[in-house]
Amino acid sequence: MNFNIAIIVSFLFLAEYGAAQVLDISKFGGSPNSDITQAFANAWKEACTSTTAVKIVIPAGTYKLNVIDVKGPCKAPIEIQVDGTIQAPSNQDEIKGETQWVKFSYLHSLTLSGKGVFDGQGANVWKQKAGGPAWSGKKSNKVFMNFGFNFVNDTIVHGITSKDSKNFHVLVFGCHNFTFDDFTIIAPKDSPNTDGIHLGKSTDVKILNTNIGTGDDCVSVGDGTKNLIVQNVNCGPGHGISIGSLGKFTTEENVEGVLIKNCTLTETDNGVRVKTWPNEPATLTITDLHFEDIIMVNVRNPVIIDQEYCPWNQCNKKEKLLLVKLMQLDQIAMCLNIVTK
Ligand SMILES: *[C@@H]1O[C@H](CO)[C@@H](O)[C@H](O)[C@H]1NC(C)=O
Ligand SMILES: *[C@@H]1O[C@H](CO)[C@@H](O)[C@H](O)[C@H]1NC(C)=O
Ligand SMILES: *[C@@H]1O[C@H](CO)[C@@H](O)[C@H](O)[C@H]1NC(C)=O
Repeated sequence: MNFNIAIIVSFLFLAEYGAAQVLDISKFGGSPNSDITQAFANAWKEACTSTTAVKIVIPAGTYKLNVIDVKGPCKAPIEIQVDGTIQAPSNQDEIKGETQWVKFSYLHSLTLSGKGVFDGQGANVWKQKAGGPAWSGKKSNKVFMNFGFNFVNDTIVHGITSKDSKNFHVLVFGCHNFTFDDFTIIAPKDSPNTDGIHLGKSTDVKILNTNIGTGDDCVSVGDGTKNLIVQNVNCGPGHGISIGSLGKFTTEENVEGVLIKNCTLTETDNGVRVKTWPNEPATLTITDLHFEDIIMVNVRNPVIIDQEYCPWNQCNKKEKLLLVKLMQLDQIAMCLNIVTK
């Protein structure tokens, strides 16, 4: 093979497999056992202005990272490969009132991959927690989650562990075409409000081959979720897989198309749950819910459909109850092939 052909062949190879330019965090001064917040921000700045595919690499090792705003729009696909353990500040004061530790927004074609662990170091915050979530009116610390994906499209999270988040692990909000595969969530079963993945106003989300063990709902489906697939997921400990709560606010959007398939719930409080507030609006609908091949091992309440969900007496029970319409609910019964052990 002559030299020119070799160049053409390797060019075609790069074009075909999209070999991305690699930006190692060390190039930006990020080294193990140090705070890489500034190094990561600089690497992101370079990645986001690149006109060809880029991969930011954080190799094995332990790093500290404060709140970071991973923001687009960017020009080309970006992969962030994390093989190290990334630690959040354990002290709530250091995060300066922010609600998301690693905050992704206004992006498309993002991949977050690797064997890495994002450790929210929530233990101190769990100890201080009193009462329910912020809206309950009880004294509560501000919500602070490990990952926020806000208005992010065509994204894959592959590998990666979310550990000991201060509150929720992951929020997926306003996203389209978003896949979690081989993802892991871990926190102790008594850690308060550590929901696994909470979804809202998002379409075409897939949660596949994922293990979730945490202190609250493994997956919770908020309003405006459309075409969600949760498949081959293990949940437990935790509070199970929950649709809702829905119907508390008039601005909420319908939920359409949820498939929960081949999931195992182990030692959870609830199995699959639908919870809706009784007040308003009566126009909200939940359509096309499918639960198939669900195995429950030691689950206290395997199936709960609560249309009068009303914690902390937030609603006036004397009012005529206006219930959220659960349409095609027969499909729950038809497809609920539940095995309890
Ligand atoms: C994501 O997709 C939605 C719907 O197609 C679109 O309106 C929005 O602009 C996209 N956002 C980004 C950051 O690409
Ligand atoms: C969804 O996102 C993935 C990952 O970026 C991409 O490969 C795929 O083409 C997208 N699918 C659609 C229908 O846009
Ligand atoms: C069901 O999910 C488990 C993982 O929880 C996986 O090992 C198994 O292959 C899945 N079965 C099918 C038929 O996909």
